[in-house]
Amino acid sequence: MKATYHPGVHKYALFLVAYAIVLLTAGALVTSEDAGLAVPDWPLSYGTLNPPMIGGIAFEHSHRLIAAGLGCLIIVLSFVLWRREERPWMRYLGFAALGTVIVQGMLGGLTVLKLLHYWLPVMHACVAEIMFAILVSIAVFTSRWYVQDQPQYVDSGSPSVHSIVTLNALVIFLQVLVGAGFRHHYLSLKPHVFGAPVVLAMVIWTAAVLRHRFSEVPAIGRVRKLLHSVVGLQIILGLIALWARINSADDPQPMPTVVISTVVHTVVGAILFGTSIITVLVCDRLIPRRREILIATTKGEVPA
Ligand code: HEM
Ligand code: HEM
Repeated sequence: MKATYHPGVHKYALFLVAYAIVLLTAGALVTSEDAGLAVPDWPLSYGTLNPPMIGGIAFEHSHRLIAAGLGCLIIVLSFVLWRREERPWMRYLGFAALGTVIVQGMLGGLTVLKLLHYWLPVMHACVAEIMFAILVSIAVFTSRWYVQDQPQYVDSGSPSVHSIVTLNALVIFLQVLVGAGFRHHYLSLKPHVFGAPVVLAMVIWTAAVLRHRFSEVPAIGRVRKLLHSVVGLQIILGLIALWARINSADDPQPMPTVVISTVVHTVVGAILFGTSIITVLVCDRLIPRRREILIATTKGEVPA
């Protein structure tokens, strides 16, 4: 793999990750404030780009504006990657980010036009996570660490570390999906509450395997600790969100405790999923797959 480190491109990718967190927060605020249908039309808001910013309109319209901003920033990112990246798959990843943000914008519009029906808000919440994961991946792939030569480590355990970290990311995504199903009134809370111990067990297993097999690798140690801390935080936030929902069941409108706790839990959910993707990428960079070792050995590149 030959690639040049472009500090500017990497910093820009990091900026987009931070911007996406702001956008996820703005989106989650729309849901928690019950403002999803405060603006009935799309792509314009009340037929204009500048509606009166009052009540729910302020939340919904500012979410749309921030989302449009991300769309523009991603157009620039995909152009820059197209011009400067030597790795062809990175150029396609830039287009994937662009395609996802377009799909996400259209899903947002349909969510409004179809009055929050057909699981559209759940799809919108989940595609937001996928888009965030793509931006996080671009930030990892453009980092100096990823581009530089790195020592390679052999995974002699079974199942392979790659299978375990991929399953870990999948389980976290499913937990996000059922969380969104509940948040948008399509599912009961049960699958999400029962999913929490499954996620915790999966993260503990993943981290234990990483510690046993690769205790000497600093980068793997760092992602392992990050994964543990974010999942712990997320479970505490989930309990707080549930407590707030139960306590405000009879309130006529969303109260600040509910809004803050559910928004933070939703956003940290995306950060946890992003962390699980970083774990996959770090393992992918440092630990060759058995298939790759076999090919290299056959070609005589690695002593048998
Ligand atoms: C393009 C990037 C976009 C991203 C990353 C994004 C992200 C999000 C997120 C994370 C949520 C919160 C989901 C939840 O709390 O469960 C949300 C809610 C929402 N978004 Fe977006 N959004 C985008 C664009 C749009 C656009 C263009 C519209 C246009 C109308 C839109 C309309 C909505 C609506 C109506 C909700 C509230 C849904 C509900 O209350 O059930 N979004 N968005
Ligand atoms: C184990 C890891 C967990 C993850 C990754 C996670 C993730 C999420 C996400 C991403 C959402 C919002 C989905 C969306 O619309 O975008 C959500 C909603 C929710 N989660 Fe979790 N969650 C976890 C654990 C928990 C736990 C332990 C509880 C409480 C027992 C909990 C309670 C809730 C509640 C009540 C909501 C809905 C918030 C609302 O009413 O608006 N979560 N979760």
